[in-house]
Amino acid sequence: MATGTVDWKKLRVEVLETFTPGPPINEVAQFAGRKATIQRLQDIAIERARHAIIFGERGVGKTSLANIFHKDLNSETKRVREIAVDADSADSFDSLWRKVFRRIRWEGEDTTLDLQFPAPIEPDHVFLQLGRFNQNEIPIIIIDEYDRIADETCRVLMTDLIKALTRLKNNPTIVLVGVAENILTLVRDHASISRNLLQVPMQRMNNEEISEVITSRTKRLRMRISSDAVWRIAYFSAGLPFYAHSLGKYSALAAIESESTSIGEDTVLRSIEACMADVNYTIAESYTRATEKIYRKGNIFAPVLAACAMTETNDLGQFTAADVEAPLSEIMGTPMKVPSFSFHLNEMCEPERGSVLRKTGSRRTFQYHFAEAAMQPYIIMKSLRDGVIRREMFEKFYVRR
Ligand SMILES: Nc1ncnc2c1ncn2[C@@H]1O[C@H](COP(=O)(O)OP(=O)(O)OP(=O)(O)O)[C@@H](O)[C@H]1O
Ligand SMILES: [Mg+2]
Repeated sequence: MATGTVDWKKLRVEVLETFTPGPPINEVAQFAGRKATIQRLQDIAIERARHAIIFGERGVGKTSLANIFHKDLNSETKRVREIAVDADSADSFDSLWRKVFRRIRWEGEDTTLDLQFPAPIEPDHVFLQLGRFNQNEIPIIIIDEYDRIADETCRVLMTDLIKALTRLKNNPTIVLVGVAENILTLVRDHASISRNLLQVPMQRMNNEEISEVITSRTKRLRMRISSDAVWRIAYFSAGLPFYAHSLGKYSALAAIESESTSIGEDTVLRSIEACMADVNYTIAESYTRATEKIYRKGNIFAPVLAACAMTETNDLGQFTAADVEAPLSEIMGTPMKVPSFSFHLNEMCEPERGSVLRKTGSRRTFQYHFAEAAMQPYIIMKSLRDGVIRREMFEKFYVRR
């Protein structure tokens, strides 16, 4: 497009509407990748007495997936009835289902369902009410933030409920969504309902999917982005779509600022600063804690943390102290062996150092991982900006994900 004809103000507004770091996706057209997972969830919604649990790291796109997977199940004969609620730390079985019941009002009844239950709601009440959906409806009940529920009894009753629902003739589907490394922490006695509860572990997005997030949006904005710039964004994002949206947004805004519709690699590098300011405050706060100088004495916490962020992790995002040696030696410009920084790794698992790392395993085989998924990309960008690492360094230790 000839840039002379571009309405820059309007384009700016479109950028802000198109890139959404923060809110989950609500429309199929905005949602990138995850095709196979969407199909599996759609099948579950149709199959009788089957439910699903979506779990994974913070920010990988769980809520977005739950929002959109069912959108194109509507047909002439069947309509999706979506009821989505967020659990919270104070929820009991009663208060959780009361949220759902507040969103149901049966035809011919004067009040929403919750008002018909002055006494605590029990699994059997839920069973009977869910049995009232029509055959031409596809009821999907999404319970998000399920990891927040602290009440053990609630979790046990949920398992009982899912078991009981196999007796229903109609087909309501419950979708639980939560942050967790594995299903064991979310569902009680899951073995007893394993046939009824599809496990959907959500991985980070791969580079192709992150690229799709970026390129589909720049295309819609009628802007151009170089493949180097896309690669750069995918690299920084480490599979977390929040960063893809944030870097995409600020790169596009930076281009517009200089009245251009092209985004190059330098535009992306210039947008790092703004992206970092967008990151959850607790991430920035933990970084500061982790690398703080005490009594102004110099220390190597910042380089050690940067090296951690550059290690090649296993599939679970874990690395060992030995993995840190090579990138740290590169940063320090001198060979660094485990004994000279194992103290730092351990300290950074403690609250005084922001608890940025978690340690698992036993003595000889300690594994470390970042407590928050969003931390690793933040460290890379921050270290780059502060000059802790140079551009050639992270190119050398490009994390293959
Ligand atoms: N498939 C996708 N395509 C494009 N953007 C996505 C996709 N999935 C998620 N996002 C974006 O990524 C960010 C995080 O998404 P979402 O809130 O769904 O993640 P989440 O796993 O539910 O996070 P949390 O663990 O904090 O609840 C949002 O900005 C959202 O717009
Ligand atoms: Mg969510």
